[in-house]
This record gives sequence, C-alpha cells and structure tokens, in this order.
Amino acid sequence: MKNLKHFEFPDTFTISVSCASGIESVLKKEIVRLVGTDAPAINGRVELDGYPELLAKCNINLRTADRVYIKTGEYKAETFDELFDAVKTVAWENFIPSDGNVYVDGKCVKSTLFATSDCQRIVKKAIADRLCDKYGLLRLPESGSIYKVNFYLFKNVVSFYLDTSGTGLHKRGYRDKVGIAPIKETLCAAMLLMSDFYKTRPFADPFCGSGTFLIESAFIAQNIAPNIGRKFAFNEWRNLDSRFYKMATEQAKDNEDRSVKPDIRGFDADKKAVELALYHAKRAGVDGVVKAAVSPVKYFTTWAERGTVVTNPPYGERVYGKSDAERCYTELGAALKNSPFWSCFVITPHKGFEKYFGKKCDRIKKLYNAEKECGYYFYYPEKETE
Ligand SMILES: C[S@@+](CC[C@H](N)C(=O)[O-])C[C@H]1O[C@@H](n2cnc3c(N)ncnc32)[C@H](O)[C@@H]1O
Repeated sequence: MKNLKHFEFPDTFTISVSCASGIESVLKKEIVRLVGTDAPAINGRVELDGYPELLAKCNINLRTADRVYIKTGEYKAETFDELFDAVKTVAWENFIPSDGNVYVDGKCVKSTLFATSDCQRIVKKAIADRLCDKYGLLRLPESGSIYKVNFYLFKNVVSFYLDTSGTGLHKRGYRDKVGIAPIKETLCAAMLLMSDFYKTRPFADPFCGSGTFLIESAFIAQNIAPNIGRKFAFNEWRNLDSRFYKMATEQAKDNEDRSVKPDIRGFDADKKAVELALYHAKRAGVDGVVKAAVSPVKYFTTWAERGTVVTNPPYGERVYGKSDAERCYTELGAALKNSPFWSCFVITPHKGFEKYFGKKCDRIKKLYNAEKECGYYFYYPEKETE
C-alpha cells in the first residue's frame, strides 16, 4: 500500500496484564521482579506504566500471565450514545494504522448495557469512525495486520484494551501433543511459584502426565523465559519497531542460567504419558535436566533428605474413577509420611483430599483448573532443629 500514513507507536502507555482468578498476587510479584517497581493488582489484572520494550518483555518473561494488553481508556457508559462517545474519545490512531484490521470482543457485567454483541458493534463502528476521520478515509481498508480490541463494561464503567499477545501466553509452544487432562502452563507456573521449590531443591511430580510441571520447574530453576522464541500479535504490527522484540529476546537469553543443575523427576503409571513428558521436555530444550520414569505412585519414594512435590493428580471425574483417585491420594500421603523435610503441594477439586492423604494441610487456596473450582493444598516441610 502506497499512501499509508507513517507514524510511530507512543513512547508511554498503560500496560494491563491479565491472569486467572486467584493468581493475581503471584503475577504481581513476577511483575515487580521484572520491572523493579510496584504494580496494583485488581480483579484478575495487574496494571503498570509501560513503553514498547516492556510489552515485549512482559510477553516473553511472565510465567503466570494470560495476556498482555495496552489499556487505552476507561469511561462511564450507561447508554449506547455514551459508549459510542467513549470509544471515539480514545486516540486509536496512536496504536492502529490506517490499514489495521480491527477485531472487537468484550464483556458486559452488572451494567445497564448488557447486550454484548450490540456493544461490540458500537465499539467497532466508533473505532472505525475515529480512524476514518483521522486518516481522511471513507472506509477502513482493513487489509493490514490484526489489532484486537477488548472492552470490559463493569458497573457502567467501560475499559478498552488492545491485545498485544494474540494467542494466550500459556501456549509456550513445547506442548504440541495432548496428554490426559493436562494443566494450563500458566496455572502450573503459578502453583510452582507459590510452592517452596527453587533452583536445586529436589523436585518431584508423581503424576507427571505430559510433563508440564517438570518443564515449567526447569524453566524456573534455570531462569528460562517461558515464551522466548514465541511470536505475539505485536510482531505483526508494522508501527511497532521490531528491535524492541529483539532486545527483549536477547536480554531474556542473557538472563538464562543453564549452569544451574536442578534435580527434577517425574513419574507416571502410564508409559505413554512418560514418553510424552520426555518428548515435550526435549521440545522445550530442558531434556538434559528433566528425568521421567514409569512408576505408579504406590512405589514413589523420596531420594533426598529434603525436596518438593507439586502435582496435579487424577480427580476421579473423567478418565479415572473416584476410588482410583482416592487411592492415589492415600498412596501419595503414605509415600511422603516418613519424609518430614519434603513439602507437598496438590491441586484437586476432591473435597475429601485431606482425609485420603491422611493429613490436614497447612493452607488451602482456591484455584480454578479448566474452570473447575479446586483446592490447592499446601503441606510445608517440618522445621529443622539444630
Ligand atoms: C491430571 S493428569 C496429570 C496431568 C499433568 N499435570 C499434565 O500437565 O499433563 C494425572 C496423571 O496421573 C497418572 N496416574 C493415574 N493413576 C496413577 C497412579 N496410580 N500412579 C501414578 N500416576 C498415575 C495418569 O496417567 C495421568 O497422566
């Protein structure tokens, strides 16, 4: 296209990072560590002052984030007219070029305007109007890359977000085959970051399935950015300098510490699951540090004085029956009974987990796995006395 107007992306804007409900505090900690300043967490989002390179950094480095957005505005909107005016107030031309292919998605919650598809149409129309005014066009050609706008209308206040991630950030790229009830990579990373696992502390997942905990724990141990090498929606945006992505990628590479040699072991009763875990570990580039073997949980034994178990056992709802799942919990509890310096962290929706495991937990946190409400059970190790 010849007569596209040339412009640059803004130097500063608000970045809004979304995550699953219940893990906001973990994401917040990750962000504070990444940017060095505090960021408020509200309702499944953490917001911070941003700039182009930080967009790339957040997408590449954050383990527990679902998506990284640019927040373009927040306004009161009780009527369609107010919504239309609110959308038109936003300087969309700062972010979307004249050939931008605009997609709109959104949600209305506890608001006077409740018909999402009508709001969607209005938001799209108002963005197109504003861009046509600014670019002197009669209609948008929409022949360029995709710019996905999300609106969230909550209690008559509408917020607008431009999605910079595209495919959800849980799609790291290493898991290309499906195992039995795999856990989302972002939830898995959050569970690990809530546990006491670190670098070289021996780690076990006795129900390793397709290997998610093994791979994510290896990433954490060696400080490997979870989405390094992946492409995001913003990679297609010609108005955003591609050097920002290259710089953030190089920095993430420099931060890796492959000299750390973690002791990560996975087990599963199913031979195919173990093969899959090893295959995925290879794709993730951590096959050298992750071990996996076929072994039912009744044979699980700790191999060091202290260590950490983080696991997602069968729930007894789909593939395995309830009594099979309960037996697994009992066998896991028995296997850890005489290892007081091992901690154990388990996610399950089974309300009787503690009874079958044989011990009251130190703490339970509510988490959602595939939209199912679960308890995340924390068993801390005993304190060592001198
Ligand atoms: C919910 S899946 C784990 C999924 C895994 N977290 C992932 O992301 O792929 C539970 C796993 O427990 C395994 N399993 C079932 N019974 C078992 C037993 N008695 N001992 C060990 N593993 C068992 C299944 O083969 C399955 O892979």
